[in-house]
Amino acid sequence: MNKESYNKIANIWADYRNESFVSQLIIDFAEKLHPQAKVLDVGCGTGVPVARFLAEKEILVTGIDAAEKMIEIALSHQIPNAQFMVSDFFDFQPQETFDGILAWDSFFHFPKKSQELIYPKVAQMLNSGGYLLFTHGDVDDEHTNPMRGEEFYYSAIPKEKIKVLLEENGLELIYMYKDYKEKDTDRGLVVLAQKR
Ligand SMILES: C[S@@+](CC[C@H](N)C(=O)[O-])C[C@H]1O[C@@H](n2cnc3c(N)ncnc32)[C@H](O)[C@@H]1O
Repeated sequence: MNKESYNKIANIWADYRNESFVSQLIIDFAEKLHPQAKVLDVGCGTGVPVARFLAEKEILVTGIDAAEKMIEIALSHQIPNAQFMVSDFFDFQPQETFDGILAWDSFFHFPKKSQELIYPKVAQMLNSGGYLLFTHGDVDDEHTNPMRGEEFYYSAIPKEKIKVLLEENGLELIYMYKDYKEKDTDRGLVVLAQKR
């Protein structure tokens, strides 16, 4: 459902994100990384503003997104230091590992039955000392909701379960902000973890 819906609203999404600010939490995440660090941007959308911001910091970005139209737009920006490819997160089999993994407003679109599979996969792709930054729903949930005239699926697992999964997969929790507000935005949960 989400792939078709995002393909349909990709141009509207691009207009919206072209005018968006980069979260201070993403700015702080970038500051933890050295130039030429490799970052995977999961559900990168149009690559703007997030991947472009990271690339401007001399970070080497790999952006993946399930929606072809999002990647088409991301590629059209011709962002130096960034590569973009169409891939579902769970199908992505990189030849390399990463110093950072960012999932900004994408994990909450994954099927509920796959939520617990995120953490071992992330841990496998992260270098020791690497960071994981992601947004998440704040309540145990599964629902659909319309946006820009299309229907989207969302899911989330309890935050206590996320803490256990991070720990089980060698990811040390640095912060878990509930109801994180910034300018006109509000996110249920934002989490930063570091691989041991
Ligand atoms: C709310 S948008 C956020 C896009 C981007 N991170 C941003 O900040 O503008 C969610 C994105 O996640 C992508 N997505 C959803 N499920 C995915 C999956 N299983 N694998 C890869 N990308 C996915 C969607 O296609 C969409 O582009």
